[in-house]
Amino acid sequence: MPDAIILGIESSCDETGAAVVRSGEEILSNVVASQISTHAPYGGVVPELASREHLRAIVPVVRQALADAGQTYNSVDALAVTQGPGLAGALLVGISFAKALSYALSKPLIAVNHLEGHVHAVLLEQRQSDKNELEFPVLALVVSGGHTHLYLAEERENLWTYAEIGHTRDDAAGEAFDKVAKLLGLGYPGGPIIDRLAPHGDPYAVKFQIAQMKHRDRRESSRHEGAPAREPANARPRFDFSYSGIKTAVLRYVETENLAPSIEARRQALAEIGKKHGDSKPAQPTLDDYLRLSDRQTLNLVASFQRAMVSDLVAKTLAAAREYDVRTLFVSGGVAANSELRSTFQHESELQGLPVFFPSRSLSTDNAAMIAAAAFPKFLRREFAPMDFSAEAGMRLR
Ligand code: KG4
Ligand code: ZN
Repeated sequence: MPDAIILGIESSCDETGAAVVRSGEEILSNVVASQISTHAPYGGVVPELASREHLRAIVPVVRQALADAGQTYNSVDALAVTQGPGLAGALLVGISFAKALSYALSKPLIAVNHLEGHVHAVLLEQRQSDKNELEFPVLALVVSGGHTHLYLAEERENLWTYAEIGHTRDDAAGEAFDKVAKLLGLGYPGGPIIDRLAPHGDPYAVKFQIAQMKHRDRRESSRHEGAPAREPANARPRFDFSYSGIKTAVLRYVETENLAPSIEARRQALAEIGKKHGDSKPAQPTLDDYLRLSDRQTLNLVASFQRAMVSDLVAKTLAAAREYDVRTLFVSGGVAANSELRSTFQHESELQGLPVFFPSRSLSTDNAAMIAAAAFPKFLRREFAPMDFSAEAGMRLR
């Protein structure tokens, strides 16, 4: 297999990333400029601010990635960039820059689906850690702030194909973590904070029900508008998720237990901590700060919420794995950094005799190494992007 050094660029949401990866498996550099401090005061990503911050960061981040890798613009073999899904304005910053580089350097440019990037974040490390051949079909759970998707993945002669067998009907899992953390005055992004606080509470204290929505794939019958949705005989079940209900349940709990005053006090105290260290970037509260500002009832609520989320993600994914008789499981995306999610998947998959792979934590959240890695099979197939391709905010993976 020929060697290839690919410079990847990622700007789909709130991280500006550039990375240099050799042949889809060796990371030579991986630089991520996070915009968390820009968006934190708003409790979520503000699209206009994201584009502005990408514009500010893109040149230094790419230069840093090349320098860290000991490469130059001229020494790389190809460029890769995220085409979608994501925020259109944010995606366009990476795409415009990558196109300009490709044109100026006469290097091929590869357009990558961000979700495929998350899948290849697992492959990147799996190729190094497990020298055994990867067994197909692979079931990939991509679980992040914007997505909760289950894909069956296959590969033939470097052509990767994906069949979506489940997705969230409303909020993504990471979005539920972020909204619940915001609701409890814990700040943004919520996932990492809840992850650290959950072990300090009782996960059985509050009972949460998550909607179960197992059903057959109705795509065939729903083609005819207005026709009754009859199930084709060979329909396979889908494994959809729904996380807006649990967020509402947390809100209801907060109201009935009258937690609003303590939440407001916590929000203000955490904001003060940020101000105190007032350099250019607000300081991050420590775990001790969070624990000091969270009473037992809040810690129990956080632990119960996380347990309900993890149980649902693991149960549905493993049910899908049984139904589709998969040989390997991948779990990736920002929420895959969650400690309880990892340990529960590890334990439950082992009971089912199914090998499970995660990216390391730094490759779970958005980064450009995964984009450069996903581009490698396309490079081998000479699947290059035309110069008039554009951002696709709602891009699907297939
Ligand atoms: O993959 P990612 O960086 O961006 C998207 O493509 O969305 O994922 C970010 C999401 C956020 O919702 C964040 O709260 C969540 O991943 N997240 C976590 C953890 N670390 C990040 N959720 C739970 N536990 C974590 N440790
Ligand atoms: Zn992502």
